[in-house]
Amino acid sequence: MDSFLIRGGKRLHGEVSISGAKNAALPILCASLLTAEPVKVSNVPRLKDINTCLRLLGSMGVQCFWHGENELALRAEDISEPIASYDLVKTMRASILVLGPLLARFGEASVSLPGGCAIGQRPVDQHIKGLQAMGAEIVIEKGYIHAKAKRLKGARIVTDMVTVTGTENLMMAACLAEGTTIIENAAREPEVVDLARMLVKMGAKIQGIGTDTLTIEGVEKLGGCSYTVMPDRIEAGTFLCAVAACGGDIVLTNSDAASMDSTLDKLRHTGLNIEIYGSTIKASMNTRPKAVDARTAPYPGFATDMQAQLMAVNCVADGTSVMNETIFENRFMHVQEMIRLGADITIEGHTAVVKGKPLMEGATVMATDLRASAGLVISGMVANDETRIDRIYHLDRGYEKMEEKLRKLGADVQRVAE
Ligand code: UD1
Repeated sequence: MDSFLIRGGKRLHGEVSISGAKNAALPILCASLLTAEPVKVSNVPRLKDINTCLRLLGSMGVQCFWHGENELALRAEDISEPIASYDLVKTMRASILVLGPLLARFGEASVSLPGGCAIGQRPVDQHIKGLQAMGAEIVIEKGYIHAKAKRLKGARIVTDMVTVTGTENLMMAACLAEGTTIIENAAREPEVVDLARMLVKMGAKIQGIGTDTLTIEGVEKLGGCSYTVMPDRIEAGTFLCAVAACGGDIVLTNSDAASMDSTLDKLRHTGLNIEIYGSTIKASMNTRPKAVDARTAPYPGFATDMQAQLMAVNCVADGTSVMNETIFENRFMHVQEMIRLGADITIEGHTAVVKGKPLMEGATVMATDLRASAGLVISGMVANDETRIDRIYHLDRGYEKMEEKLRKLGADVQRVAE
């Protein structure tokens, strides 16, 4: 298991290119199951989760080939078995995204229940409820969801809460259903929009894209397409938090500022100077950041996937901040590790109160989940002395060449193998 060794205290300066969004790429790759025709996907980040997704699709007989660094050719002409095994689903919960497409096109699917995960319970009841409303027969047996439907039927579905992958699964299934499906309380995350745009390119009829009511008129068949994945707003936001905490000036190219309003707003409050020129974001910080309160919420609210990184900024900010986590019940696991790095944080329920200190103190800490790891990396970058972050594999699930990019910005981050 690799670790990161970070020598903190460096101001950041330089330019990095933002990768394609993991959370858009995963459903987009799964959407290739909806057609027998070839699908070409560009700007796919090289990540562990993407490899897991390709292994999952490959295990069903989908042909997947890399063409160059970030382009994938996929073809699900026919599949051998519509099964997502526990071995794969347990390493990546987003594997549930094959359920809707498999059921819609092949009439059956068996997908392992994801089980517990570090950041909370994360049930998939809304995915199941929605597919049942569309006429699927679903049995849960020996840890697997077994779903069957001759042809799914359009339905009106109101999800109990805003769910990103739930909306994506149901939207994909509805594309090949008979009749019209209305999904109310749909997630409006930019990654859901990106998937919807790809489905439209495949011939799907979707209205209300980007709103909380999606109306999908089912079609008999979808065709192939070429699609370019949107830039990763969480990766871009992470680099912006890093410069807000460390100081300096950085340039992010190939980014999508329009999908980052709430993050940019929070960071402007810390004092970060942000200028946007098309797909380029320039950010500079010349003072100690100011503390900023944040409450996570579905898009367009402040993303739960940015909470740990913003907390790292607040740990070294001038003032006290209150951070509320409303999406996942267990998403403060980085707090204990940040405290090991000298942070002053108290937690009460879903609220963390962060009293800013001028500097963190280097120590050995452990990464617990993907975004928590990113928060710890930022904390290490503003610590005196050396910080070692173990179990960095969490970071590799979602950040492409993180240490290379940080080094390009002048940070002292080394990967060491155990
Ligand atoms: C997606 C993102 C993840 C992000 C999260 C919230 C992907 C691959 N992952 O995860 O990075 O942190 O959105 O923005 O896109 N819930 C239920 N029942 C369900 C579904 C969800 O109770 O059937 C609950 C969850 O436990 C959670 C909330 O709804 O409390 C939101 O979860 P959801 O949006 O579904 O998260 P994911 O799609 O798994």
